[in-house]
Amino acid sequence: MDSKIVCYAQEKNLIISEDCLRLLNQNNYQRVLDKLAMEKKVFVCRDDIKKILVTTNWLSEQDKPRGNGEKNFRIMDAYDVTGKTLSQGSVEDFLSLFLDKYSAIYDILKRRENLKPIPIDEAKKLGKNTEVDIVGMVFEKRVTKQGNILITVDDPTGRVNVVVTDSKNYEVNPKDVLLDNVIGIKCSVLSRELFIAKDIMFADLPYEKLVTTAENDCYAALIGDLHVGSKLFREEEFNDFLDWLNGMNASQEDLEIISKIKYLIIAGDLVDGIGIYPKQYNELAITDIFEQYRCFEELALKIPDNIEVFLIPGNHDAVRLSEPQPAIAEKFLPNIYKKKNMHVLGSPSWVEIEGLLFLLYHGATLHGIFGKINDLKMDKPDLAQKELLIRRDLMPEFGGKQTFVPIEKNFMVIRETPAVFVCGHIHHHAYSRYKQCHLISTSCWQSMTAYQEELGHTPTVSKAILFNLKDQSLHIKDFERKNE
Ligand SMILES: [Fe+2]
Ligand SMILES: [Fe+2]
Repeated sequence: MDSKIVCYAQEKNLIISEDCLRLLNQNNYQRVLDKLAMEKKVFVCRDDIKKILVTTNWLSEQDKPRGNGEKNFRIMDAYDVTGKTLSQGSVEDFLSLFLDKYSAIYDILKRRENLKPIPIDEAKKLGKNTEVDIVGMVFEKRVTKQGNILITVDDPTGRVNVVVTDSKNYEVNPKDVLLDNVIGIKCSVLSRELFIAKDIMFADLPYEKLVTTAENDCYAALIGDLHVGSKLFREEEFNDFLDWLNGMNASQEDLEIISKIKYLIIAGDLVDGIGIYPKQYNELAITDIFEQYRCFEELALKIPDNIEVFLIPGNHDAVRLSEPQPAIAEKFLPNIYKKKNMHVLGSPSWVEIEGLLFLLYHGATLHGIFGKINDLKMDKPDLAQKELLIRRDLMPEFGGKQTFVPIEKNFMVIRETPAVFVCGHIHHHAYSRYKQCHLISTSCWQSMTAYQEELGHTPTVSKAILFNLKDQSLHIKDFERKNE
């Protein structure tokens, strides 16, 4: 849909930014773009479109609440790396990746009322004790001989050192600032090369009212980390879930809920893969990747056809490990690709469901920030998700275990404000809310692995999370057979 809109805009000589796309749909895009072309617009921003939708009342028509059986979802392919042309991995491509990250997060920071940033090279020309705001990407962070934290930040115009002397009232604890984070700093100029930090802030989320279009109760079921093909895959319990989804062995109360499940999200690691970690071969029940996906398909095809299914890959799936990850290829999931209700997406990807914007990301970078940010524990992965969210960045740090593909556009930046942020990967279900955003980490369908045992991490298994899209409440349906 997005590409259709972009093509139509091009025909009309309009240049539209990506955040416009979400406001347009099948019903309204032609007349909105026609109107903008008549107004002789060239560069179209979100506000231009909003203005037209509100003044013409097309917005209410588009967003009118839906009936019980009708579904309302939209896959935002502009934010999914799948099918996009990739660069060659040159130094320039890395530079583009970081510049795009900087400018996207800068734009979000700039919208904050308490920050009026100017370029670093201009700030350095100001006299001593002048108060100035800058936005920089953290190049280096160290502790000085006096015990103060010194942060070196870059922007496209220059580099400066910022010293933290007293961080008691800071919005962000300087200890939680990681390399490559894009931060806003309120400073006082000490010299051309040294500023004193008065406050540090992340781009963060604005307060936004969520508007669901679901008129009646309906649910999105959230699962992840099946690891089909592993000896540790909880196949019986997963079959119990599928039976339940088909109304078998379900109480009257559950049947009520099941009839309202319209969407199902699978947050990656569909299969266990081959050669993902040393000695994995001994832990595999199925040692052929195609056979693993064939078994996965056999299970997934039991999902009732009236449920829209969104599948993203994880680090165990047959796609490149470097992020962002494109969708799993058709050759692995030929039957799923034929199903109209099944949508194979990349990680991260964005889907608007019943008016609520879902950010789906497997979660590989979460591992990198445990141990680097105070108090983060693997049994509370939702708090690690919050750290990504407030930085508006799924790639908080570069150069660690997780690798990234150098492409001109940084798909890891959280450009929109999600209503629901779903991750898997940690194998521990968790839920909390940050501002208006629901942070949900899915449970897994695999018993504790030797690696998790080494880490002392006990996974939570075989739980389906049910998210009510009307009242935004959360329910957990447990399929774990406790005697196993
Ligand atoms: Fe996993
Ligand atoms: Fe994973």
